[in-house]
Amino acid sequence: MLEWDDAPAKPSHQPAPPPRAGNGAHRSLHTVPASGPAATVRVPAADEFKLTHPQAHVESGATGLESLEMGARRIQVDDKKIINCRADLNQLVPFKYEWAWKKYLDACNNHWMPQEINMSADIALWQDPNGLTEDERTIIKRSLGFFSTADSLVANNLVLAVYRHLTNPECRQYLLRQAFEEAIHTHAYQYCIESLGLDEAEVFNMYREIPSIHDKAAWSLPFTQSMADPDFHTGTPETDQRLLRDLIAFYVVFEGIFFYVGFVQLLSFGRRNKMVGVSEQIQYIMRDESMHMNFGIDVINQIKVENPHLWTAKFQQEVSDMLREATELEIRYAHDTMPRGVLGLNASMFNEYMKFIANRRCAQIGIKALYPGATENPFPWMSEVMDLKKEKNFFETRVTEYQTGGALTWD
Ligand SMILES: [Fe+2]
Ligand SMILES: [Fe+2]
Repeated sequence: MLEWDDAPAKPSHQPAPPPRAGNGAHRSLHTVPASGPAATVRVPAADEFKLTHPQAHVESGATGLESLEMGARRIQVDDKKIINCRADLNQLVPFKYEWAWKKYLDACNNHWMPQEINMSADIALWQDPNGLTEDERTIIKRSLGFFSTADSLVANNLVLAVYRHLTNPECRQYLLRQAFEEAIHTHAYQYCIESLGLDEAEVFNMYREIPSIHDKAAWSLPFTQSMADPDFHTGTPETDQRLLRDLIAFYVVFEGIFFYVGFVQLLSFGRRNKMVGVSEQIQYIMRDESMHMNFGIDVINQIKVENPHLWTAKFQQEVSDMLREATELEIRYAHDTMPRGVLGLNASMFNEYMKFIANRRCAQIGIKALYPGATENPFPWMSEVMDLKKEKNFFETRVTEYQTGGALTWD
């Protein structure tokens, strides 16, 4: 049921169908916007690309809000495409991407709510002047500072940018579930902040006031700004490549790299029987995030299968540079949040860990390892947490695999 850090789903190999008339899918052609992200990653210019792909056509996908065409031909599975699909997006079946539907079902089975977790031990510990060291308090506050705004950023990216460009109903079904989970995560951080009586303004403003937190959020923003632009449409090699790059930035970097120092730090408290409520919230969040990332990786790999011309050597190099830059930012974040050793951790362990994680992310999307020497995970217990299936919770406070099984009563 749970899919912590599974290998990507086997991509569907059906050839992309030719564009079809009917289904109200007639659409105007769109031009490529001149604006792009300010990040160092460069997408090839349109004319550059057309030299090797003279057949490139401009054709963006359906939205699901087209006028209905009475008596239009029924949807066939081969009409479906992950991007630039012109067939009706309001018909969930027939499924083409079973993996997306399965992830939607698994995510629903993992439903949880922050207020179900008991925070009383955390509150007592936080209020005890001798309960935690200053360094430990700093880690808690900085982690909540990063995550509390990061999850809103991810949610906004999903709803305002990603959703529009993934032209597949089963993937959109998962995106809707993911968007709700991101809301639950923001709720969980607010719940922790409120329970501990932290200064809410201080925590929620950290992404604008603490450099290492700001740098991660600021790094990611250009990768949503371009695809959230109402004038941005996929359908050309360069815009499709831009979408692919932006999906990698959010699913692989933001959710797959930038969350991991914080996860290790907060779970380390729970391992030492401190801040067990916060740790438990993080455990559920990490389970969800792992599935978000795996969904994103499946989408990325499916786009590659259906659009192999996008995956050029030059583009792979850009992705590789992007992952390296992000890994360095995350290592810097580790050093900033823990200048001294604490909870059995020290910042240099995170150098190794983040390089190990970066290599894993590279493998998941088919990029050469960035750090060939980094083959050891200095936190093997993280894998144990990830590998939990039906066993009891890591901190033995409740069953990890949460099922919403309560019968409804109608009265
Ligand atoms: Fe989240
Ligand atoms: Fe997420």
